[in-house]
Parts: sequence; C-alpha cells; structure tokens
Amino acid sequence: MIDTDTQINTTPQGPVDDRALLQRAELVLGDFQSQIQNVPYEDKGVFFSEMLFVLAAVGPGFSSRVLESGRARGQSTFVLGRIFPDADIISVEFDKDSPDAPVAKDRLKDFGHVKLLYGDSRKLLFKHLQPNTVAIIDGPKGFRAIRLALQLLRTGKVGKVFIHDVYKGLATRRFLDQHVPGTVYSDHDAFVEKFKHLDAPCWDGFDTSQPMEWHSAAEGLVGDPSYGPTFACLSFDPAISYRLILCRLNLMNFFARAGTSVNKKLRKRGGA
Ligand SMILES: C[S@@+](CC[C@H](N)C(=O)[O-])C[C@H]1O[C@@H](n2cnc3c(N)ncnc32)[C@H](O)[C@@H]1O
Repeated sequence: MIDTDTQINTTPQGPVDDRALLQRAELVLGDFQSQIQNVPYEDKGVFFSEMLFVLAAVGPGFSSRVLESGRARGQSTFVLGRIFPDADIISVEFDKDSPDAPVAKDRLKDFGHVKLLYGDSRKLLFKHLQPNTVAIIDGPKGFRAIRLALQLLRTGKVGKVFIHDVYKGLATRRFLDQHVPGTVYSDHDAFVEKFKHLDAPCWDGFDTSQPMEWHSAAEGLVGDPSYGPTFACLSFDPAISYRLILCRLNLMNFFARAGTSVNKKLRKRGGA
C-alpha cells in the first residue's frame, strides 16, 4: 500500500480520513478536471465534486471491479467510465422501462469497459463480486441502501462502498455515525470549500430559490445543512462485525414497525 504525499494508494482497502481524502483530492484534481472536461451534467446525477471524492478515496489507476447500483441517465456511470479506465465497471438499473434507460444506453455506448445490466441490485450485485470490488449505491435509498452496503462489506470482497444521499440530519446518517466507525462524507467543510467549483454545471437544473432536499427541515434538520446530496464512504475494516451492525439495523426496523402498529391501534381505539 502506498500512501505518501506524492504517491496515491491505488487499492480500495483500508480506511481513509477527511485529511487524507483532502490531500489525495488535491493530488488528483488536475487529472480529474481533464477527465471530466466537456462532460455535460445529466439530470438526477451525482455532482462532479462528489465523483472527485470517489476518485480520491479509491485512488486513480484502480483496475479491479466497480459495481454501480442506480444508473438513471448515466451521469455517475459516465464519470466512472472516465476516471477508472482500467476498471471493469458493472452498472445495475432497476427500471428498464424508464425514459432514462435509453439515454444512459446511448451515452455510455462507447465505453468498452462499462457493462449495463437491469434488475434489482440487492440481488444482482452479489453475483458480480470479486476481491477488491468498489460499490457505489445511488438507488435504492435510505436504510435499504445502508443494508445493501453492510451486506456487501460483510462478504469481505468489497473494499469500499459509497452511499449517495446521506446528508446531515437524516436518520441514515445518524445510524452510520453511531454504528459504522470510519465513515467519511463528501460534505466535509474543507472538501466542499476546495472543490465545489467543479459543480457549476450541475446547478443549472436546480431552482436554487427553493430549499434543496438536503436542506429539508422535514427531515428534522435545523441549521448547518449539507452542501449537496452527499456520498458516505464506508471502508472495509476486518475489525468491524458487519453482521452485528445488520442485527442492530433489523432490530431498529422491528421496533420502529412495532411502534407504528401500536400507534395505529391506539388511534383506532381513540377514534372508536
Ligand atoms: C438518483 S438515480 C441514479 C442517478 C445516477 N447514479 C447518476 O448519477 O446519474 C436512482 C436510480 O436508482 C434506481 N434504483 C432504485 N432502486 C434500485 C435497485 N434496487 N436496484 C437498481 N437500481 C435501483 C432507480 O430506478 C433510479 O434510476
């Protein structure tokens, strides 16, 4: 493993912290900018600064497998194709009939190393694991995404998992902070400050006069909003029991469901 100021770790194994990520992102920024030059931004897509976060965490020259869950119009897939030219990229999209599907297919047709599949990645991804895999989850969302990430890490074949839409104030974020040590986020202040300029093309489609989803008070968030949708990065750590964390997640879901059903019954009785 290489990790000096001038060389970059090219394997996805091992934890990364905010400081290391920032340093690595600075080192790869020039190449990244060349790779994304003239790449138009597609609706629903992951921001460019968030993709720089992925590149910095994984390391350039990554030549193993990248599994993507949730392709839509292929924005993240296209950037993955550019930043990891030596990797074998498999992208899974659930909704074959979506108008997004042909857009992605057409956009990605020139990448020989990007394979497009359709189906539920909660099943499909496990058929395509190989040692040293990196996974990017941008659908399913919420706790379904967290469960998928933990199940992937539990196999021991996945070095890093990125989960999209884990902005501040969400219950999923609190869960990761409490139960998955070493999780880092692309909305880290210093990272955003340095690299948000990459996202200028992304903001065109947003109505910035309205609060963004990731500023949403409905999610219980007050103050200190995230900069954008936000990637969480979970690095495989052999000292972590992913089985145990999955048990906690299942228990939490069980009690949440039980609470909802008790509340419903109480409301019914109150109304009777
Ligand atoms: C926000 S979009 C993805 C955007 C894409 N990553 C990009 O940057 O352009 C989310 C996509 O995830 C897909 N999705 C949701 N659940 C899924 C699942 N279980 N397996 C595969 N895809 C799924 C949805 O159909 C949708 O197209």
